Amino acid sequence: MSRLIKPGSTSFYRLTKPVVFLICLFPLAYLLARAFDVAGLGLGANPIEELLHELGRWGLKLLLLTLCVTPVRRWTGWNWLIGYRRMLGLFAFFYIVLHFIVYAVLDQGLDMTAIIEDVLKRPYITLGMAGLLMLVPLAVTSTKGMMRRLGRRWQKLHRLVYVIAIVAVWHFYWQVKLDTLEPAVYAFVLAVLLGSRLVFFAKSRQRTRLKKS
Ligand code: HEM
Repeated sequence: MSRLIKPGSTSFYRLTKPVVFLICLFPLAYLLARAFDVAGLGLGANPIEELLHELGRWGLKLLLLTLCVTPVRRWTGWNWLIGYRRMLGLFAFFYIVLHFIVYAVLDQGLDMTAIIEDVLKRPYITLGMAGLLMLVPLAVTSTKGMMRRLGRRWQKLHRLVYVIAIVAVWHFYWQVKLDTLEPAVYAFVLAVLLGSRLVFFAKSRQRTRLKKS
């Protein structure tokens, strides 16, 4: 029995992946409940803005959570965490696509001229758009088959996620009018995550140098 549920085993993932999947869907379910005013929840005075903001925040949270997987795995030795990385990344993409759909359909009424003008004229929208476009190749190549096919190039391509995270936090920071505390917290978390990558990188280079000498 204990062998069956060993972290990282097929049975372990079979049990836990649906749970992680449902947890990732929960913010959307809650937003839908608010949008349909279930149990008097509601979206407040400005429902479109609330939807836009909540979806953007969840997209960013999941993006940062995806970036947490590797450092936490290395610090704790919990290698099985890698099994959830793809799902978390794809959910981040999903929420960001919904964020864009709410912007394009509900906020801009699918007025393509207005959307293009916005993307070209408002720097924080330009950044958001760049983030979304850069996420597309990562989502498309996230499958095991693509990983195998691309080999080392897959890792290189997926390093783009660091640029995307910087762009996303910047997009958040730029659109905030007064209270910059929240985007500053996201920026801090991102700085810690990127810093930890640099530490791992420096350590692995040192190890390689020691092996050679
Ligand atoms: C990597 C992609 C993106 C991420 C992570 C992201 C995330 C966010 C976050 C966290 C916010 C702030 C929410 C808040 O204040 O509570 C936001 C706001 C916003 N985003 Fe994005 N976003 C992305 C892409 C886009 C794209 C592609 C567009 C449209 C082309 C867009 C349009 C907006 C708009 C219009 C706002 C609200 C601005 C306001 O209320 O003044 N975002 N986004």
